[in-house]
Amino acid sequence: MKVLVVGGGGREHAIVKKLKENKAIDAIYALSGNGGMASDCICVPIGAKELDKITEFAVAEGVDYAVVAPDDPLVMGLVDKLENKGIKCFGPKKSAAIIEGSKVFSKNLMKKYGIPTAEYAVFDSAKEALLYLETAPVPTVIKADGLALGKGVIIAQTRDEAKNAVLEIMENKKFGASGNSIVIEEFLEGPEVSVLSFTDGKTVVPMVSSMDHKRAKDGDLGLNTGGMGTIAPNPYYTEEIAKECMEKIFLPTIEAMNNEGRTFKGCLYFGLMLTKDGPKVIEYNCRFGDPETQVVLPLLKTDLFSIMKAVTEERLSEIEIEFSKKSACCVIMASKGYPEHYEKGFEITIPESEKSSVYVAGAELLQGKLVTAGGRVLGVTAVEDSMENVNLQGNREKRD
Ligand code: AMP
Ligand code: GLY
Repeated sequence: MKVLVVGGGGREHAIVKKLKENKAIDAIYALSGNGGMASDCICVPIGAKELDKITEFAVAEGVDYAVVAPDDPLVMGLVDKLENKGIKCFGPKKSAAIIEGSKVFSKNLMKKYGIPTAEYAVFDSAKEALLYLETAPVPTVIKADGLALGKGVIIAQTRDEAKNAVLEIMENKKFGASGNSIVIEEFLEGPEVSVLSFTDGKTVVPMVSSMDHKRAKDGDLGLNTGGMGTIAPNPYYTEEIAKECMEKIFLPTIEAMNNEGRTFKGCLYFGLMLTKDGPKVIEYNCRFGDPETQVVLPLLKTDLFSIMKAVTEERLSEIEIEFSKKSACCVIMASKGYPEHYEKGFEITIPESEKSSVYVAGAELLQGKLVTAGGRVLGVTAVEDSMENVNLQGNREKRD
């Protein structure tokens, strides 16, 4: 069995490591992978957005199954292309990946089906958006419609900040065509929870909950980043809240997508905020989160490849999925200066004894040496019996 994983970050490394546990898999290719993943799989220098090249490679190599991990290729329709060539996939088709690819789509979906989310308005022109902001309450949240490398959400504290954001996105096209439309949204408050789920369009199985820490520096005092670390389970996500989310958010979303003729199969990520009025959806992602995957998958006891195949074959209800009751914490080791200016090319040595818990992201092999090649370099995950030793203090103070 030959399996291909599209992507090349810490999330993909965690997926590859988990897939390796299945002995029916003879070869795993990562496109493009990274230097640090090369000891776990075969890395092939094809980028995640090179859909035709990926498809050609998969056909030529006789790949049996593909896991498409990043947002771009999913939203661009890689799963459709691979399936047209008879290659089975884990990940939604283009018609369903729109749940992440267009915030206008996802907000309208939630409104239509009564799924709790922040109040919002949609704009196609800067002029109307600016007029609306004259009287809108602040803080307010401005969101570019399309994908924007995780940077398309601006929390504006003042009306001027909000107006600048609108001009940057809609007039200066900071995020290109992704900013042709925008959502202006009510500012919500409360602890955030990430819930990744497996779904085949009929059954939805939430994974262990997690919490993403997005700001640099201790106590959340630094700039916003792609994610500096994660913990699982999320301490705010009680069984009662989980039940409420299943009834009011998870199942209604799966049904809504089916009703729209956009059945979602793969990993559906619910970004939630636990507000005083109950849990609300902040965002949907059509994929595993990064760095959530680096704490969620180490706690998964069931074989990942068996789950993925069950999703593809729409028999998720037939399998038992089990997570460890332990706690996991992933800390990102970043280049000095990240998320602003940083240098690359520093050698990385990962002790053999630690390799199983290190997920490599921004690194490459240069003359046989592993060196830094990005801002977020490694994700190091610890799994312990309890979270007691994990210092949540800084985060609690900020969010409570
Ligand atoms: P996103 O790119 O959609 O994940 O949003 C990035 C972050 O912006 C989220 O993780 C939240 O912390 C914050 N955010 C998004 N929407 C809202 C909102 N309506 N109210 C408050 N914070 C928000
Ligand atoms: N950690 C947030 C994301 O993957 O979008």
